[in-house]
Amino acid sequence: MTMLSKNSFQAVTTMFRQVSGIQLSDAKQALVAGRLQKLAQARGVRDVDAYVELLMREGDAQELVKVVDKLTTNETYFFREPQHFEHLKRMLAERRAGAAGGDFRVWSAASSSGEEAYSIAMVLGEHFGLRGWQVIGTDLSTAMVDTARRGLYPLERARLTPTPLLKRWCLKGHGDNTGKLMVAPELRQLVRFECANLTRTLPEIGQFDLVFLRNVLIYFDNPGKADIVKRVLTRLKPDGLLFTGHAESIANLGIPTVAVAPAVYRHA
Ligand SMILES: C[S@@+](CC[C@H](N)C(=O)[O-])C[C@H]1O[C@@H](n2cnc3c(N)ncnc32)[C@H](O)[C@@H]1O
Repeated sequence: MTMLSKNSFQAVTTMFRQVSGIQLSDAKQALVAGRLQKLAQARGVRDVDAYVELLMREGDAQELVKVVDKLTTNETYFFREPQHFEHLKRMLAERRAGAAGGDFRVWSAASSSGEEAYSIAMVLGEHFGLRGWQVIGTDLSTAMVDTARRGLYPLERARLTPTPLLKRWCLKGHGDNTGKLMVAPELRQLVRFECANLTRTLPEIGQFDLVFLRNVLIYFDNPGKADIVKRVLTRLKPDGLLFTGHAESIANLGIPTVAVAPAVYRHA
C-alpha cells in the first residue's frame, strides 16, 4: 500500500486548502497517497513522500496544478438530480415567448467534466433551438475543463439522459470511440468552459438567469459555503434562480435567499 507520512500529508493538504478552500480530513490520508502515486512515478522519485518533498522544494506552479487536479472530487454525470431539469423545463414553458433581456444565460459553477453544462444545453436546445441562449461552465480543475471542452464521454455517464435528447444532441462513437458519445458540435458551440476558483475573485463572465452550484458546497464548512454562495449570487440576475445539490442546504447560512423548490433558490 502507498504510504504518506503525517508531515507530507499536512504539507499537501495545507497547499490544497490554500488553493481550493477545501480542508481534507485526516481520514483522507490513504486516498491522498493513492492519488499522488502516479505523479510520483511520473517524476521518477522513489515514493510519495519524496514527491511531496520535491513539490514543496520546487514550488513549481505546473506541478501544483497537477496535484490540485488529482485531489478534487469530480464525480458527475448527465441529468444528475433530474428534478432540477424538470424544473428548468417547466420554467421555460411558462416563460413568455420572446421575453425581453437578451440571451438566456446559464452558469454551471463547478462544472467538473462538463456533463451538467451539456445537460442544461440539451434542455435549452430543445426549447430555444440553436440561438438566444448560452451556457458557461467553470471549474477549479484545469484537467476537468479540458475534458469538458472535448465533449467526449463514456456512454454510461448518459444513463439518465432522456432518449430523444440523446438521439438529437449526441453522436455515437465508432472505432476508437466505441462505447462513447460525443456532444453534437452545434450544441458544443453554445457551451464554453473556463477555469474559475469559487473562493477567489470571479472572472468577468457576466450575469446569469440560472446558476447551477451543485455538489461542490458539500466540501466546505459553513463559513466557506457562505463565502462562495455570496460571491456566486453577485452573478445571479435579480429574478434569477440558484440551484444547489439536494444534499446542500443553504437555508442556515444567513444569506437572504428564498427557496422556491427543493434546492432551488432566488434572491430574497
Ligand atoms: C463533484 S463535482 C460536481 C459536478 C457537478 N456540478 C455535479 O453536480 O455533478 C465538484 C467539482 O467542484 C470543483 N471544485 C472544488 N473546489 C472548487 C473551487 N474552489 N472552485 C471551483 N471549483 C471547485 C471540483 O474540481 C469538481 O470538479
